[in-house]
Amino acid sequence: TKMTQEKMKLAVAQAAVDYIKPRLRDDSIVGVGTGSTANCFIDALAQVKDRFAAAVASSEATAERLRGHGIDVLDLNSVSQMEFYIDGADEFDPYMNLIKGGGGALTREKIVAAVAKEFVCIVDQSKQVDLLGAFPLPVEVIPMARSYVGRQLAALGGQPVYREGCVTDNGNVILDLHDLEILDPKALEVQLNNIVGVVTNGLFAQRGADLILMGTPEGVQTLKR
Ligand code: A5P
Repeated sequence: TKMTQEKMKLAVAQAAVDYIKPRLRDDSIVGVGTGSTANCFIDALAQVKDRFAAAVASSEATAERLRGHGIDVLDLNSVSQMEFYIDGADEFDPYMNLIKGGGGALTREKIVAAVAKEFVCIVDQSKQVDLLGAFPLPVEVIPMARSYVGRQLAALGGQPVYREGCVTDNGNVILDLHDLEILDPKALEVQLNNIVGVVTNGLFAQRGADLILMGTPEGVQTLKR
């Protein structure tokens, strides 16, 4: 039910704060993702805001919520190291490969995750799959390349659907790739990035999660590589 899912999100958010708390230093920078689970994390992070230096946000919405709690938000270019990146996901597989971008923030999420030493992914058990691809894979595209990229994606065997009315924080559009069984996430991630006009895709496989905290009705499970 909705209620149980909400409780699981709050529980994994708290588990993520409990995990990073003893590892934070005064000069630590925390990268923060986007979505309803990330929002629960931001609210929980406020408890320990005196124990780290600042945050970096993966979206405007996240930056606003962090500032609302009195947490400093830095531009990524003014940061040379980042301890943690905490974010949700739309799907994860047994190898800790992820699909992200349901909220449209995939490019900034991927950039911030790339800088972080450790990517802690917070999810409820509904995101767990054996094979990625039931969730439509988001692909961020330069607007003028939309039709061309769509044809290239269709040639891969999937069904690209233009996300109507969605403009990313970077001014681009999103094609959601439906009906693709993703047998080799690492290879597909690179292949998609090679299509001219693609900015990023929602596969986090080259750099997957380092730690997954999964909410279940029985409590939070920790999954490690
Ligand atoms: C945002 O672009 C996504 O990558 C999110 O991480 C994803 O949609 C998870 O959102 P929820 O926590 O709301 O399910």
